[in-house]
Amino acid sequence: MNELIIFDTTLRDGEQSPGASMTQEEKLRIAKQLEKLGVNVIEAGFAAASPGDFSSIKAISKIIEKSTVCSLARALESDIKKAGQAIQPAKHKRIHTFIATSKIHMENKLRMTPDQVLKRGVEAVKWSLDYTDDVEFSAEDAVRSDVNFLIEIFDAVIKAGAKTINVPDTVGYSIPKSWGNLMNELISKVPNSQSVIWSTHCHNDLGMAVANSLSAVQNGARQVECTINGLGERAGNASLEEIVMSVKTRKDIFNLETKINTEQIVATSRLVSNITGYPVQPNKAIVGANAFAHESGIHQDGVLKHRETYEIMRAQDVGWGANKISLGKLSGRNAFKNRLVELGIELDSEEVLNSTFDRFKALADKKSEIYDEDIHALVTEEFVSVAVDRFKLVSLKSITDTQKKTLCRN
Ligand code: KIV
Ligand code: ZN
Repeated sequence: MNELIIFDTTLRDGEQSPGASMTQEEKLRIAKQLEKLGVNVIEAGFAAASPGDFSSIKAISKIIEKSTVCSLARALESDIKKAGQAIQPAKHKRIHTFIATSKIHMENKLRMTPDQVLKRGVEAVKWSLDYTDDVEFSAEDAVRSDVNFLIEIFDAVIKAGAKTINVPDTVGYSIPKSWGNLMNELISKVPNSQSVIWSTHCHNDLGMAVANSLSAVQNGARQVECTINGLGERAGNASLEEIVMSVKTRKDIFNLETKINTEQIVATSRLVSNITGYPVQPNKAIVGANAFAHESGIHQDGVLKHRETYEIMRAQDVGWGANKISLGKLSGRNAFKNRLVELGIELDSEEVLNSTFDRFKALADKKSEIYDEDIHALVTEEFVSVAVDRFKLVSLKSITDTQKKTLCRN
């Protein structure tokens, strides 16, 4: 099979969106759903970033069986050690190490020469191999890097043992033709390029993350790094659902398969949106509420006569309509518990189960149809309320002062 590897970074680059940080319990729920969706690799976080990130990656590593669990690490021995320890329990584990290769980053951020960067990249790959043989190397800001330097550093890290070479457009600067050409040039000029998987990682600053990623795929990339709903740093990353459905719908062009269970796309999108609080715009491709809605009379008439007059994909193939009515106000505690199990939600104790069930009953009194998304929202609410109960405002003192002397004249 000519496979396109789907590397999901919702829990790492996605979490870098302002205000999108997630609790460990929320990350676990998303990770389980990503596995159900069928992603090949889950980038679960950046272990060295914080003890919370470390612990979430470790917890995810313990429960995920089919997907590879990955941690990001700078090209630093201490980062790589943390990444290696965090992914240690995973059945399939990867370390993704990176260093910037553009002049602007090397001179101003790293304050390193190209020779030092190359040497460090090689060391980083070797340190990572102590923890796993699945090592990915990224050249941060590849888009603004000198292509000859990229060829040199990729050659060196492949010799050191990297299995995946990721080419990021860190700042969302490229356009499809140039991005595809760069991938093509790298694959044709880097020695032994056929022994590794070439990967693309695009940001959406000019709205071209998906188009650029697909252009890289047409030029030999066999891994795409992407996020659910295109969540991510600044304008976001390439959107997983758009990449996957483009490759599936235009098989005539790409001739590639992914392992994605596309019927889980809408449920995954809703879960990520509920948890992060980032709404999905109604006209968003694939997962927006209007993505399959036909407003104009001519279109409605056409679709009714023959669906394919105005539809290139089937709504049910991406999971629209699959979110069945799950429970109602007559449903009992057992049915509720079973539904949680089906959704992969584990609650800490009987006490938490009981109070979530009480919330469910209160909602079912007001809303006759309870969907899976409602259940996810109830569980999130329950965890938030438990967290809030742990803190009590004891006292508050407020002082205001303009720091200016005023003269009073009578
Ligand atoms: O955008 C980027 O360059 C990254 C790297 C760490 C891969 O996220
Ligand atoms: Zn990124």
